[in-house]
Amino acid sequence: MAIRPPAPSASIALETDSSGKLHAPSAARNANDLCAAIASIAPTAGQALELASGTGQHIITFAAAMPTLQWQPSELDPTRLTSITAYTADSGLTNIAAPIRLNATQSGWSQTLDPKDLITLANLLHLISTPEAETLITEAAKTLAPNGTLALYGPFKRNGCLTSEGDKTFDANLRQHDPETGYKNDQWVISTAAHAGLTHATTIEMPANNLALIFQNS
Ligand SMILES: C[S@@+](CC[C@H](N)C(=O)[O-])C[C@H]1O[C@@H](n2cnc3c(N)ncnc32)[C@H](O)[C@@H]1O
Repeated sequence: MAIRPPAPSASIALETDSSGKLHAPSAARNANDLCAAIASIAPTAGQALELASGTGQHIITFAAAMPTLQWQPSELDPTRLTSITAYTADSGLTNIAAPIRLNATQSGWSQTLDPKDLITLANLLHLISTPEAETLITEAAKTLAPNGTLALYGPFKRNGCLTSEGDKTFDANLRQHDPETGYKNDQWVISTAAHAGLTHATTIEMPANNLALIFQNS
């Protein structure tokens, strides 16, 4: 699958410091709410993988709040991989592995990893095409250990509808930038995950009209 040029939203206001740490204001804003949602469904111990970790701001929050999980960050973009390494070093946390370069939309990545008890993804599905999203979900399902949990967070259509003016504008901007991208429908995600063998456990309503879709492996 092609590596897409960053969508407008993916590179907004990313500031960097001398250690290579990038700062995404949106990640700082939603880290605690996202962390609380994930902590509410996470296994008590085991291996956790974050796809598309971005700056690294989320994973240091998750790893501090869920210290009995071993966290594996991953990213496609080299600058963000550097940032994740810098945040991890700065955090002093010992339950975060060195980040790995992982293209989550490329078939076969599940075969390169050990089974995971938890996989999280924030804010990527709307930036990729439908076939890429299907590959990502299918590969995540293959990577989950028995009883593993998948958490997909971000903006979604609900029953095929965009439910706020902000979502209508954002989705239109994404599709104008790249017609293959845009919000995925929550019901499509649920049926795609079901096709990959995952059961929809719950949907958590999140601030800013986002959702966390939670799935369970059998
Ligand atoms: C909007 S940012 C979200 C970052 C972070 N998860 C967050 O919520 O703050 C999207 C991220 O996905 C990464 N990305 C884009 N395409 C990817 C792919 N095919 N595989 C893995 N990561 C990808 C980008 O480099 C970027 O860091």
